[in-house]
This record gives sequence, structure tokens and C-alpha cells, in this order.
Amino acid sequence: MRAQRRRHVLAVLAAATALVVGSTATGEARPEPPAQVALLGADFLWGVAASGYQSEGHAPDSNWSRYVAEGKTADTYGDSIDFFARYRSDIELAARLGVHVYRIGVEWARVQPRPGEWDEDGLRFYDNVIAAITAAGMRPMLTLDHWVYPGWEVDRGGWRNPGIVEDWLANARTIVDRYAAADPLWVTFNEPTFYVVNELRKGGISPADVPAMHERIAQAHNAIYDHIHAVQPGALVTSNVAYIPTGEDVVNKPLIDKIRGRLDYIGIDYYYGLSPESLLAGPPDFEKLWTQPLQPEGIYYALEHYARQFPGKPLYIVENGMPTENGAPRADGYTRADNLRDTVYWLQRAKADGMNLIGYNYWSLTDNYEWGSYTPRFGLYTVDVLTDPTLTRKPTDAVPAYTAITQAGGVSPTYRPTRAPQPCSFVDAAASCLDPVTVPR
Ligand code: BGC
Repeated sequence: MRAQRRRHVLAVLAAATALVVGSTATGEARPEPPAQVALLGADFLWGVAASGYQSEGHAPDSNWSRYVAEGKTADTYGDSIDFFARYRSDIELAARLGVHVYRIGVEWARVQPRPGEWDEDGLRFYDNVIAAITAAGMRPMLTLDHWVYPGWEVDRGGWRNPGIVEDWLANARTIVDRYAAADPLWVTFNEPTFYVVNELRKGGISPADVPAMHERIAQAHNAIYDHIHAVQPGALVTSNVAYIPTGEDVVNKPLIDKIRGRLDYIGIDYYYGLSPESLLAGPPDFEKLWTQPLQPEGIYYALEHYARQFPGKPLYIVENGMPTENGAPRADGYTRADNLRDTVYWLQRAKADGMNLIGYNYWSLTDNYEWGSYTPRFGLYTVDVLTDPTLTRKPTDAVPAYTAITQAGGVSPTYRPTRAPQPCSFVDAAASCLDPVTVPR
């Protein structure tokens, strides 16, 4: 809670400073919004994203299985949505959406149960999943570390142990060597900043360990980047950032600066907005993700922010989605389908304005274990883990919406968002307040 409050105060300060200093955006006012906005084209990579631990079930001993066992989570894990047994039908659901990319995580704890020991069954599971993704005409996006590491690594001190870098690399090299031939897109570390936050909240690190954890993540990223390029020429590698409204320079930049020479594309996760109104409403409650303000045009500012930082570099929305509380209608009345279409409109605007946007993943194909709770629901398909033993995948209104989007290459050129952009927001202060994006009247 204190960390949240501190982040909130930081965001207010940053927003206020940016307003006083003036626009840091393009330096000139934005042109009038276009009456029509082009589609994203045949090469655009539409995808769905998930992680290993959050969806597989049958979890081996890991930091997260221990957090659950120690009672640090609201819900126990069970077998999540059992992707482990149902991956074929889930991959089929994704293929039917018409997406081209399926992001999964390869769980270190599943493939290396003990130091120096590889579990052939664990590896075969990923062989089969990746083969099924490829056979269905999709490209795998593989995350090497989505916040989970084996129990034996916990016993060695986790991220407090300098030796974790070599241990991590031994696993990562094994995975890269085994799957490079499938031509995956790579994500080394998922949202390093929130990895650190989770380890602070649930794991064994203290604030004094944070700089070392940053350093170790950067070392591991940079080393595996070189290895991936040695075995898969032309590979695309990133470590995706969780976009923090107005806080990027303070929160994510220090780590990005350590790896900026080894990023082939900028992976961005965008979820929530930040308006003067939401700032005044008080600090965000991360236990109730469905109360976070949604601001679809914020994805445009997030892309613009990184287009400025890395001119010309490919940008990829690695995660975006919308939480509900247990699948119930949201208090703001936003439906998953409208939120998705509005978001895609802003992707088209970003591309039309010259940003080098190459892909977009929806988080997630199905509901899954939201790091301690099954209440926040992000799935295109709902799964009632706690009440439905059959774990049936039930389509939301966003299934036909996304299918239509992938078929057409976006929303109709004359589409108008159901939710107007905020006239002043702090998604990327000061540009998003002093020089906001607008839609045609
Ligand atoms: C994480 C996911 C998570 C999603 C929704 C991202 O921060 O990478 O694991 O489920 O946000 O909260």
C-alpha cells in the first residue's frame, strides 16, 4: 500500500512538473484528426498472450507455488484453467480468431526440476505446444521468464543470489537452442519492474536488494540476447515494459537504459489511464484491477512515448486488455468488445501517424490466475475456475469483435470510438494534457 501511495504521489508530481515545464511532445500542435483511418495491413501481427504459470495448472515447485502454499494469495491455485491438458483446444480457439501470434511462457520450474537436471516430459510438453501453435498457422512468442523460477532457486536465495544469472542463463540457453528453429518472437523478462515489485511484496527481497535485481536482470537479458542472435539470425527480442502513465522516465527507464542496445522491438503492455479526475479520486487499488480507469486513447500516447525514445524501432503491444470483476458488467458500462474496437482504432491512428507499430496481443485468450486471485477477468473467453469443474471456455462479446478485426486488418476506416478521448489526461504528461489527441466531430 505504501508503495502504491508513493507511486501515486510520484505520478502527481511528475504530471504537475510536466505541466509547468510545458509540452514535451512534438513541439507543434497536432493536425486535425483524419476523417478516415487506414487499416493495419496484411503484415500486422495480431496475437493473444498468456503466461505459463497463470494458465497451465499442474504447477511444479516454484517461487509462486510457495507463495500460494504460504497463504500469501487470496485464492489457491488449483490447476488454473488447465492449459496443460487443454492446450490443443485453446490453440484451436486462438486460430479461429484469425490471430497470427500466440504468446506463451516456458516455465523454468517445469523443465529444470533440480539443478543441472532436465525433465524430458516438461520439455516435451512445450515441444507439443509449440508444434501445435505452428501447425495452426501461428508464430509462437516465447517468454523466458514471466516472474516464476524453480523452488531450488528460491532455496539458493532467488534474486538475492548473484549465481541466479548463470542458473537463469543455463535454462534460457537450453530453451533457445531447442526452439529457435520454430522462429519465435522472444520476450526475455516479462515486465521487469513488476517482477521486482512482486518479489518485494511476496518474495524474499528487500528494497536494498532492488538495484542488484535490476543489474542481474539486465545482465541475463543482454547475455541471452546475444545467444539468441547467434542461433537465430534475424530474431526479434524484447523485454516488455508495463507502461506507467507519466511515470516511465522514473520507473522503467533506469532498467531500459541498461538493455537499450539489445532490444529489437519495444514491447509495451498498456492497460490503464490516468486523468486529473482519477488522480483526485485517490491512489489506485491494485487489488481491485477492475476499478482502474480505462482510457483506450492512452495506448496512442504510450506508443508515441516509445516512438520518441526509440525513433524508427518496431513497436509491439505485447499485452493489452480489460479486467472485469468475476466477469460481471463493469461499473463504467464498458464492454470487452467496445473496449477492444476503441483500442484498435487508436492503434490505427498511431500507425497512420508514422509510428512503426508491428503487432498487438490481447491479454488474454482465456481468464487465468491473476497472480493470487481468480476474480480479475481478462479473457476473450471466460472460465469460472472456482465454480465450474469442467473449466468450460465461454466466449465473451469480444470473440466475434476480435475475429472481425483480424479479418479486416482493423476497425472500419470510418469507425468512431464509443468512448471519447479525455480532453486532458496524464497518460504521457504533458503531451496528453496540453496537446491531446482528438477524434473527428
Ligand atoms: C502481466 C500479466 C497480468 C496482466 C494483467 C501484466 O502486468 O504481465 O501477467 O496478468 O498484466 O494484470
